[in-house]
Amino acid sequence: MAVLIPDSELSKRFEKVPTAIFSNAGIASKVVAIEIAQIIRSKQMLNKPCILGLATGSTPKGVYKELIRMHREEGLSFRNVITFNLDEYYPMQPDSLYSYVRFMKEQLFNHVDILPENCHIPDGTLSKERIASFCRDYESRIEMNGGIDFQLLGIGGNGHIGFNEPGSTSNSKTRLVALDHSTRAAASQEFNGLHNVPRTAITLGVSAILHAKRVVLMALGEHKSRIVKASIEGPVSEHVPASYLQNHPHATFILDEASATDLTRVKTPWLVDTCIWDKKLIKKAVTGLAVSLKKPVLKLTDKDYNDNGMGELVAQHGPAYDINLEVFNQLQNTITGWPGGKPNADDSKRPERALPAVKRVLIFSPHPDDDIISMGGTFMRLQDQGHDVHVAYQTSGNIAVSDEEALRYADFVTGFDQKFGLNNSEIDAIYQNAKEFLKNKKQSEKDIDEVRQIKGLIRVSEAKATCRFVGIPDNNVHLMNLPFYETGMVQKKPLGEEDIQLTVDLIKQIKPHQIYAAGDLADPHGTHKVCLDAVFEALRRLKDDPENQDWIKDCWLWLYRGAWQEWDIHQIEMAVPMSPDQVLRKRYGIFKHQSQKDGVVFQGSDSREFWQRAEERNKATADLYNKLGLPEYEAIEAFVRYLY
Ligand code: F6R
Repeated sequence: MAVLIPDSELSKRFEKVPTAIFSNAGIASKVVAIEIAQIIRSKQMLNKPCILGLATGSTPKGVYKELIRMHREEGLSFRNVITFNLDEYYPMQPDSLYSYVRFMKEQLFNHVDILPENCHIPDGTLSKERIASFCRDYESRIEMNGGIDFQLLGIGGNGHIGFNEPGSTSNSKTRLVALDHSTRAAASQEFNGLHNVPRTAITLGVSAILHAKRVVLMALGEHKSRIVKASIEGPVSEHVPASYLQNHPHATFILDEASATDLTRVKTPWLVDTCIWDKKLIKKAVTGLAVSLKKPVLKLTDKDYNDNGMGELVAQHGPAYDINLEVFNQLQNTITGWPGGKPNADDSKRPERALPAVKRVLIFSPHPDDDIISMGGTFMRLQDQGHDVHVAYQTSGNIAVSDEEALRYADFVTGFDQKFGLNNSEIDAIYQNAKEFLKNKKQSEKDIDEVRQIKGLIRVSEAKATCRFVGIPDNNVHLMNLPFYETGMVQKKPLGEEDIQLTVDLIKQIKPHQIYAAGDLADPHGTHKVCLDAVFEALRRLKDDPENQDWIKDCWLWLYRGAWQEWDIHQIEMAVPMSPDQVLRKRYGIFKHQSQKDGVVFQGSDSREFWQRAEERNKATADLYNKLGLPEYEAIEAFVRYLY
């Protein structure tokens, strides 16, 4: 399978461990699964056991899925496989929703012919006194079996491998560790809040990991890009435990495109090798130079280019002034107050077409508040400028509503009934049932159907309130309730045929000139990415179907970013400025989502409220444009056009 950006002798000047970059998580996972299958089979031929060191978390799921497929369709047997998992939370009961024992059974063991007695996972039920001897025994069992043939690793945002947090030494043993705050914050979503995440875990030590004959570390998603660069290009350091792999004789990093974005060969390829300087690369290099030198684009000099490894660009396209002007114009042409196109204007240099003057617009919002949080200013402009704006709420977002909020609304409905003498015993029964359930609800328990419905309704009513505030007619609000989301748990189902078909049907019904979708790549298994994949696949099918040829070619797809990250300046193709008044109006639009205000169920590691994140981000984009020498706006929302 072809790697996306091949490494070269030159890239090895920066990369201190073999690294392969693949275009997406699916291909990367297949490559790893193929290698594991080969090792299993080669050991089978020798009549020997195959010892696998396994990881949990979101990263290896695709590998396990592919191994299961190989078992079912290609006869790959796991009879000779003995596994040792990296870690387990402590304390942890094996049947808990959050246990790695349960994870491994669900993701792999229950679906292949591995012998249960061959599966080893650190025991989260031991008394503290017994942990040390358990850990010694765990390591000696690995040794007795001949050592790990293949160790699969993920990487924490802080560089941990297993749960060897920063500060772990290279000779650290298997042991009980205290989890880093960032590790607990990353897990808080699955555990329904930080306070539920255990503070400790048992992990295989760095030493045992480094003793594996072969080690593959996988990293997926843009949120890993910073630590991936530090691990591969930085010094070997206990501050980044994954960097120890630089000293392993047979370790490889397997990355998807998103997690590789900070590597030198991807971010600044001109420092690695000669480049083909097309318009996009020039924009990327020059904006990057201006940002790092804190200079407006038009003030960059030949010397700035030469001193920063961009002499080749000046030689080919210089002098600096010409290149600066070209990039300045490119940036300027992204700015428009007319996201739906400016009627009666020359649109040759504008991001959107002038015609048709009134466009049908379809905004896909993964959760019920992403439309207003991530593109509220643009949303309002499109409506105010007379376009036919539709919003599709892709999922119900029900799990993000607190139990208290659900009770408050259920209480209101019964109170309403009583007040007006409606005495509906069915409503009362639902309320009593929900109340009773929530009173006794255990930490990891899934909500009963009634409670989920109530929570979903709360979010729908909030989304509708935002639409009313913006001026969207009720008929233009589409509640998709994509089934992949409806598990009642953080863990969702994979994207299914029904999800795609619902998306196809809606696009076909509206035949939009513009689609807006959340283009988040941070978490390949996250709801935003699954929702984006549904849109991509739906558009691919619609484009292939001859029936749609008269309209699909005019349907442009614009991607916005969620509450957590923004596009890099060089990627932005449409920048929609906001006045101070529009910023305030957007804030009030976000406030309609009361269940997501003043403390949310899934806060993550960012303590700001959504409106604060949105405002700070939109302001940062405006400041960046200004620092590069463009006009000073209060705030800017940014978009990238995706050619499908
Ligand atoms: C899991 C483990 C951890 C994870 C890491 C990345 O067994 O040991 O090191 O690999 O925290 O987790 P994800 O893949 O969920 O980003």
